[in-house]
Amino acid sequence: MSTTVPNIDIKQLTEPASAIEAYMSAYLDERALPENLRDAAKYALLGGGKRMRPILVARCCQAVGGKLEQALPPAAAIELIHCFSLVHDDLPAMDDDDLRRGRPTLHIQTNEAMAILTGDLLNTMAFELITEKVADPKLACQLVKELSVATNDMIAGQVYDTLPCFPEGLSDLEELQLIHHNKTGALLRCACRMGAIVGGADEEQLAAITDYAAAIGLMFQVVDDLLDVTQTTEQLGKTAGKDLVQGKLTYPSLIGIDATRQQIVELQKQAHDALDKLDVPDSSLRDLCDFMATRSN
Ligand code: IPE
Ligand code: IPE
Ligand code: MG
Ligand code: MG
Ligand code: MG
Repeated sequence: MSTTVPNIDIKQLTEPASAIEAYMSAYLDERALPENLRDAAKYALLGGGKRMRPILVARCCQAVGGKLEQALPPAAAIELIHCFSLVHDDLPAMDDDDLRRGRPTLHIQTNEAMAILTGDLLNTMAFELITEKVADPKLACQLVKELSVATNDMIAGQVYDTLPCFPEGLSDLEELQLIHHNKTGALLRCACRMGAIVGGADEEQLAAITDYAAAIGLMFQVVDDLLDVTQTTEQLGKTAGKDLVQGKLTYPSLIGIDATRQQIVELQKQAHDALDKLDVPDSSLRDLCDFMATRSN
């Protein structure tokens, strides 16, 4: 990972990523699939990415006393959903992007039909994985519920972003928050909650982690909006400056760059405050929040 943050050991913090990647790769290899579809799914899933959502599953699980092994199925599942969302987000009918994670987007690398079908596969495979790998049926059902609601919210958010249809009477800022809360916040909240649930969180811990997740979920997309206007294509591994060209409603376009930076600091503080209610010695969730607030890609 190219980003460095003072006083945070990024390598140690993101260490669960390699186990999660190995787990996802093995899962894809186990499936009976046409080879071109398997290759496309591997391209979408295994070609880089920060792995923030699965790392959050792992770190939230560990923060409440759980083990990495318990976190692996929901961690892999959320990254499957995230990669599905990216593949479809990049399609010509959506953001029409040809660069993702420093490589051609899937529809450029293969073709549109394959990208649509691969996204569909990653989506359904996430739920198959949970039902197959989580032995306790009650827990599996709870995770499927969390993930399906979050996936539906992400899709609703993509509609607000791409085909706006807002409830009456919202201000521009409220519309923007509705987009971001759904298109990006939903999966990040789900990641944190699933981690806490598999780790055996009690009600108070789950409530504190949910508050933390709400703050970082919105913050993550505010940072994404900011980076789109402050970074280069090379730094991002995706085309910079696209939001403006496509007339997207973003934090910098609505409130300006300085106020966007202030908003990030405010959300970072909200996340820290939520963690103060979580009585655990582990500092990894605070460090992850700070990394996500200050990342450069
Ligand atoms: C990009 O997410 C799309 C958003 C929701 C902002 P990430 O910035 O987590 O993308 P990868 O997984 O690291 O490529
Ligand atoms: C993406 O938002 C949200 C998704 C659900 C994928 P963006 O369209 O801003 O993400 P990037 O900038 O293409 O990664
Ligand atoms: Mg988009
Ligand atoms: Mg996009
Ligand atoms: Mg973006």
